[in-house]
Amino acid sequence: MRARRGLLYMPGDDGHKIRKAAGLGVDCVCMDLEDGVAFDRKAEARATVAESLLTVDFGRSEKLVRVNAIGSGLEVPDLDALLSGGPDIRPDGIVLPKVEAANQVRWLSSRLSEAEAAQGWPEGGIGIFVLIETALGVVNVREILSAEPRLRAAIFGAEDLAGDIGMTRTRGAMEVLYARSAVVTHAAAFGLQAIDIVFVDFRDVEGLRAESLEGAGMGFSGKQLIHPAQVAPAQEAYTPSDEAVAKAIRIVEAFEANQREGRGAFALDGAMVDMPIVKAARRVLDRAGAAGRLTRVETSRGKDPRS
Ligand code: COA
Ligand code: MG
Repeated sequence: MRARRGLLYMPGDDGHKIRKAAGLGVDCVCMDLEDGVAFDRKAEARATVAESLLTVDFGRSEKLVRVNAIGSGLEVPDLDALLSGGPDIRPDGIVLPKVEAANQVRWLSSRLSEAEAAQGWPEGGIGIFVLIETALGVVNVREILSAEPRLRAAIFGAEDLAGDIGMTRTRGAMEVLYARSAVVTHAAAFGLQAIDIVFVDFRDVEGLRAESLEGAGMGFSGKQLIHPAQVAPAQEAYTPSDEAVAKAIRIVEAFEANQREGRGAFALDGAMVDMPIVKAARRVLDRAGAAGRLTRVETSRGKDPRS
């Protein structure tokens, strides 16, 4: 599993921000062609993103591009700019906004398959990330997230959803709780990662940290980001702490020892441990491993010996 703790957007027509993002050590850089770009700058943005894919060194960051929604009339020229520029212009994944039906994901996947064949790229290598951010998208999340093996993650967009439904966005995000929970639950059901809401007040680092910890606690793998100052605190919040890792290792070790003695449930530090607790501990170790925080021995501790 790849760490996707932070997904940083920047307008695709802003070459300065793209180059800046490439040096931040963020897990995912997402160059935007959609709502972060003015209508009369779409062509400029396509050209800047294609040029950046060719010339900028993004290091270990995953290179994503958010295209315009299917049906906007902009999606085909967006994809053409990314997929027909030659074999050296290749995004790692496409972020598809405002997804409302499984056939939209399948349409994108077949365009990607054609490009992979034409450019000599490995089949199935370009990932799809779907943004669930409309009422219809939430209602159809089950068919959308089970549509395609190319899917890597579901991203939940609260601002668009609030506009679509007529909600008032609040700090605690209680108005989007149902949709936010639906996305993270369906993502887990289909083996996908889930990426949480944007925190728009980018000067408020403490608020961002709190919302990131909350998202991690809900089971999200990471968070959408809009400013460089958000990268380190968000990625830190989505990385299991040393204490959490130590505790998880103790749980897994104690579980294995108790299993050998024929006990499925046992007590550790005054609390009951059984299979669900062990699964949660293995998930902590998976995440720490993806974030590069484990030694090889610790990583192997996280693996379920039966899987
Ligand atoms: N990615 C990369 N670099 C960014 C960035 C981003 N998202 N946001 C800001 N920066 C850079 C700025 O260019 C500036 O660089 P410099 O110091 O070399 O000049 C530095 O970080 C500090 O930026 P700051 O002055 O604090 O912010 P700003 O006023 O330039 O920009 C926003 C504020 C909100 C316009 C900007 O953060 C932004 O464009 N965010 C992303 C918007 C977006 O993509 N929205 C669509 C998806 S939700
Ligand atoms: Mg949106």
